[in-house]
Amino acid sequence: MKIAVLISGRGSNLQALIDARRDPGWTSEIVLVLSNVADAQGIERAEKASIATCVIDHREYADREIFDAAMTEAIEATGAELVCLAGFMRLLSTPFIDHWRDRLINIHPSKLPDYKGLNVHQRVLDAGETMTGCTVHFVRPEMDTGPIILQATVLVQAGDDADTLAARVLEQEHLIYPEAVRLIADGRVTVDGEQALIDGNVLYPND
Ligand code: GAR
Repeated sequence: MKIAVLISGRGSNLQALIDARRDPGWTSEIVLVLSNVADAQGIERAEKASIATCVIDHREYADREIFDAAMTEAIEATGAELVCLAGFMRLLSTPFIDHWRDRLINIHPSKLPDYKGLNVHQRVLDAGETMTGCTVHFVRPEMDTGPIILQATVLVQAGDDADTLAARVLEQEHLIYPEAVRLIADGRVTVDGEQALIDGNVLYPND
């Protein structure tokens, strides 16, 4: 399965997807890394792995829809069948999301539907949560919503600050993102409306 990865920064989840090439039975190929930020660290990671890169600077486009259409054109030119958001920090327009419906996935550093949006780890700590985690999901127009494919749980530890918690959540992100891509590539994920199924089973009821 050909995949495109969209980034804005560090690209550690991109790196996890790059490194998954070494896993036995991995059948995906990253055909494009697209960034809206020219000096994103993830671009360097892609170049080091000999993966095609493309920078589309949102500031050069009149509005979000025109920017998103330029991204779709670049992605489609590569033949990518799945688009993975990996720390892509731009809101996407509804036409873009509808165009890629059920072929567009995201990783978010909380157990959705809890803690949508930004500054997640500090908000988790401020709320006194004992557990948090991360989620891979298909993207829907409303921010950080959509059928959940995989989640991992992370325990909050005494003395955690936002950075230590983010680091432990990130370790789990690096496990579940490649795993979700593998499940999709192997044809084991189906989507029924707002519900994702793995091997026909509902793992995360959407209620
Ligand atoms: C990750 O923690 C990812 O879950 C988060 O940004 C970070 C990107 O790190 N994404 C979001 O918050 C999206 N709502 P990375 O660039 O090292 O992969």
